[in-house]
Amino acid sequence: MGICIKSIGMYVPDNVITNKDLESKINTSDEWITTRTGIKQRYIADKESLYDMAIKAGKMAMEKANMDEVDIIIVATLSPETLFPSTACVVQEHIKARFAFDISAACSGFLYGLDIAKVYLESSNANSVLLIGTEKLSSLLDWSDRSTCVLFGDGAGAAVITKGEGDILSSVMFSDGKYKDILYAKRCDYLKMNGKEVFKHAVRNMESACKIALEKANLTPEDISLVIPHQANIRIINTLTERLNLDPSKVYVNVNKYANTSAASIPIAMYEAFEKGILKRKDKILLTAMGGGFTWGAAVLEF
Ligand code: UT7
Repeated sequence: MGICIKSIGMYVPDNVITNKDLESKINTSDEWITTRTGIKQRYIADKESLYDMAIKAGKMAMEKANMDEVDIIIVATLSPETLFPSTACVVQEHIKARFAFDISAACSGFLYGLDIAKVYLESSNANSVLLIGTEKLSSLLDWSDRSTCVLFGDGAGAAVITKGEGDILSSVMFSDGKYKDILYAKRCDYLKMNGKEVFKHAVRNMESACKIALEKANLTPEDISLVIPHQANIRIINTLTERLNLDPSKVYVNVNKYANTSAASIPIAMYEAFEKGILKRKDKILLTAMGGGFTWGAAVLEF
């Protein structure tokens, strides 16, 4: 028996902010944002809290899995509302679980969470994990800084992970604290980023993580039905696609619609791809992400 992503859920706020909307607020243009990032719009929470989004995505995944409790809730977020209690404990008040905790791995949070879920399911008495990536990045943005505020969005994605059909064929995680000053948010301050440096490292790190994950799974890019990369910038995704020699039609892209939702980005993309029938059961898929820390990784799944 392997590790099964039994179901996926997601939630984004009602409020959509388009590039055109931003044009009237800061010195930017739809043309600049589109050509540099591929982003056309983002969802920004005006009435929803980080918790609301996490609970809604989590509940959707639970309903789709036909379950009303899990052993463990893991929440990945870089935009928690409180230092403690953890976001996961707040979610646990609404979704029954034995214990709950948060992880901090920035945009790689969902992948790190998947890796942790696998370890718990394989080597403890836990049979089920609800993994949620949730972000209210709008609360960390300086809305007068055009170099960052156009890039991010809010939302949550969730997956119920159990023992069962399917498997995590390989999962490789990395981090390097040497780059801690390139992308960060200090307590009570805005998110800061050296975009060009992050871009360079994102391509290089995701490329190498994907190669290692594929090798560990004994697979080549041709064996993969769908690649779901972290959605930060279409140019990063396209460069990665070229460097790994991937068929672009096998690479899922929705950064245009959601912008960068950090830990929520991969589960939101998985949810969409599955609902559209692009991601199918038994498909071999490759996930990859890179974020502040730096943290990065890749995983090959039989879905
Ligand atoms: O999940 C991981 C987190 N983040 C990322 O993956 C982001 C990685 N980095 C990137 O995606 C890109 O580096 C950015 C999209 C952030 C920036 O693209 P770039 O091609 O590296 O642009 P740049 O920073 O070199 O800026 C070019 C110009 C600058 O003007 P000057 O100095 O050439 O006159 C900026 O001031 O573009 C200007 N600029 C803007 N102009 C209009 C920066 N932001 C904007 C903006 N609208 N929003």
